[in-house]
Amino acid sequence: MIPRSFRHSAVAVVLLAASAVLAAPQPSTNQQIERRIEALLRQMTLQEKIGQLVQYDGITTDAATLAKEGRVGSFLNVTGAEKTTALQNAALQSRLKIPVLLGYDVIHGYRTIFPVPLGSAASFDPQLVEQSERVAAKEATAAGVKWTFAPMVDIARDPRWGRIVEGSGEDPYLGSMIAAARVRGFQGANLADPQSLVACAKHFVGYGAAEGGRDYNSSEIPEDTLREIYLPPFHAAVEAGVGTLMSAFEDLNDVPASANYHTLTEILRKEWRFDGFVVSDYNSVHELVPHGVAADDEQAGLQALTAGVEMDMADGVYDKHLAQLVQSHKLPMSTLDEAVRRVLRIKFRAGLFDRPIFTDVERARRDILTPANREVARHMAEESLVLLKNENSLLPLPKSGKKIAVIGPLADDQANQLGSWIGRGRAEDAVTPLQGITAKLGQQPVLHARGIDMLSLVRAQEVSGATGAAPAPTGATGAAAAGTETGPATIENAVQVAQQADVVVMVLGEPAGMSGEASSRAFLDLPGKQEQLLQEVVATGKPVVLVLESGRPLDIRWAAEHVPAIIQAWYPGIEAGNAIADLLFGDAVPSGRLPVSWPRSVGQIPVYYNHKSTGRPTAPDRWHTGYLDESMEPLFPFGYGLSYTSFSYSNLSVAPQVRPDEPLRVRATVQNTGQRTATDVVQLYVHRRVGPTSPRVRELKGFVRVTLRPGQSETVGFDFGQSAQVLATHDASMRPVVPAGTYDVWVVPNAAAEGAAGSFQVVTK
Ligand code: NOJ
Repeated sequence: MIPRSFRHSAVAVVLLAASAVLAAPQPSTNQQIERRIEALLRQMTLQEKIGQLVQYDGITTDAATLAKEGRVGSFLNVTGAEKTTALQNAALQSRLKIPVLLGYDVIHGYRTIFPVPLGSAASFDPQLVEQSERVAAKEATAAGVKWTFAPMVDIARDPRWGRIVEGSGEDPYLGSMIAAARVRGFQGANLADPQSLVACAKHFVGYGAAEGGRDYNSSEIPEDTLREIYLPPFHAAVEAGVGTLMSAFEDLNDVPASANYHTLTEILRKEWRFDGFVVSDYNSVHELVPHGVAADDEQAGLQALTAGVEMDMADGVYDKHLAQLVQSHKLPMSTLDEAVRRVLRIKFRAGLFDRPIFTDVERARRDILTPANREVARHMAEESLVLLKNENSLLPLPKSGKKIAVIGPLADDQANQLGSWIGRGRAEDAVTPLQGITAKLGQQPVLHARGIDMLSLVRAQEVSGATGAAPAPTGATGAAAAGTETGPATIENAVQVAQQADVVVMVLGEPAGMSGEASSRAFLDLPGKQEQLLQEVVATGKPVVLVLESGRPLDIRWAAEHVPAIIQAWYPGIEAGNAIADLLFGDAVPSGRLPVSWPRSVGQIPVYYNHKSTGRPTAPDRWHTGYLDESMEPLFPFGYGLSYTSFSYSNLSVAPQVRPDEPLRVRATVQNTGQRTATDVVQLYVHRRVGPTSPRVRELKGFVRVTLRPGQSETVGFDFGQSAQVLATHDASMRPVVPAGTYDVWVVPNAAAEGAAGSFQVVTK
């Protein structure tokens, strides 16, 4: 289902071997598991069955008592080797000794915090993403957690939506590749491995299409868009073997996602043959009542379970109402049994019955926050940074001979390097940009001014304590104060400090708590007085490098025009400062690419590259799709990112004719035309000229990272077993079809570039 892209046959062989290992079914083990499930089910009372479908928050309930009584199948938010062991031991005292599954939001690392997911997606490097999640899985399982509520694979076309930070951006192909990589990373080759974490693809489905970017809001998604844009990353996660999915909060096409039989059963179970289980989002079963589709909790429970939500997170609806529903014959015992089977199946696959306790304090000490883990985080952070602008090759900066000032409220703030949803990450572990730059420059003095106080930014935006908000700065234990802070956090002082420097690095952006759940914004400007700070520092005439930290694209029209160099850093995680310093001073060459189109202004939203043509495609006169007062083009397109070298694209070759069941092979030459060895992200896009439904102007169908020395060129190949893998669309009755006709193909550095182009015919007769 997921097309492969590769450039050397050696790479292709490696990829094939890897997927063969992952796909290898173990029929005897599976059969054994099914037999054990049936044997257990026969012994279970109604209450014990219901218990398996109940998940409570370990923080707000008396977890040990509930576990001993066999009344709860899973808890969330209990972590740490000692606490999880105690709770598991309580569960093992229950009549049938069924272990509990302990879940936690390990979103971008457990203690070793990686870049926020939107940042790691910007690497376009599924292998490194997989490696990062392996680290997260090792750490989380060392702390007794066996289930993560990740990956978040919601497609997001609207940066006002605060949760865009948790996903892989706007594109279904990139989203699918990253989703599968995260699942492989969390789950490893064998779920029963003590270092493997059960993954949970969320939020099924359409949560990212919240109208107006307002969190929890309704989404309206036509069926073909659902199938071609929003569902593919979930399908990729299922194909990669994901154990669980989470049903979303929002109303999808008039039926809330947590009661949506069409998506949860018809598509997920019947079409995709998913055999794991679905957990509701926090309280989302109960929320069917305020949604207005259920009159009370009893109805809500019946609707959710019947639609395909096996486990009820937090609200206790299943706990309180399922018994009555079964006794009154509103809920058939067979439906309940099937739900219990699915939950038990994942517990068996996770090895919990054979090894319910898989860590101890010693392992936790050994496996968490190791130097090797930090090293992966540093590498991931480096690859996540996107160079948006670099006028006159201001970057990389020389390591000596220039006095550097590092200015801005985020320049030396540890907590905010980590981003939102930071698991058990700690501010004190994080390296700030100022610390990274100071360490890089050794003995040379580095000037520093905050310019603006961090807290004033938070207050300016009235950010309340949203779920997952980064903790308040703890005062930098462990890390020595870096740089020379001269004076108060005022703009005047920052300007004075800038005047003493040869080059100014400004670290600006959003406090981390402005991204994530319940963090939608109506404006995307730099919060507080940061734009003024930027303008006044630029007015000194000193060359300025802007490092932006944010969970979403911000409105940086002024900066894009007036600041010579800009790096989008997202929230780089625990190794932020080291990764940023590596890039600034040329020890690493930028290779990140935008996983979302970067709007010029809020009024353009949604702006995404894979839109339809319209009957009046954009043109410079007013009677075409567009605005009177704003361009139609984003500030930076999807897939965009600069390097310290340049690349050229040529010689696209593709067979002139192909049938849907025949292989499709595209070749192009990429050359490093600059002075530095560097990695490019080569992207393949296609476009159907005519078909039964209106096509998108371009669709990403492959990408590959290629490292080239100066002057070196290489033939990059994209091979698909069947052209239908890349070209299939849906007809009006939602049947997959590959329309005959002409298709355009590009091998390019981003979604808006011309690069190497060609076309071919699809013949169906
Ligand atoms: C609500 C969020 O929407 C979801 O992503 C998360 O996993 C749960 N809370 C549990 O914390």
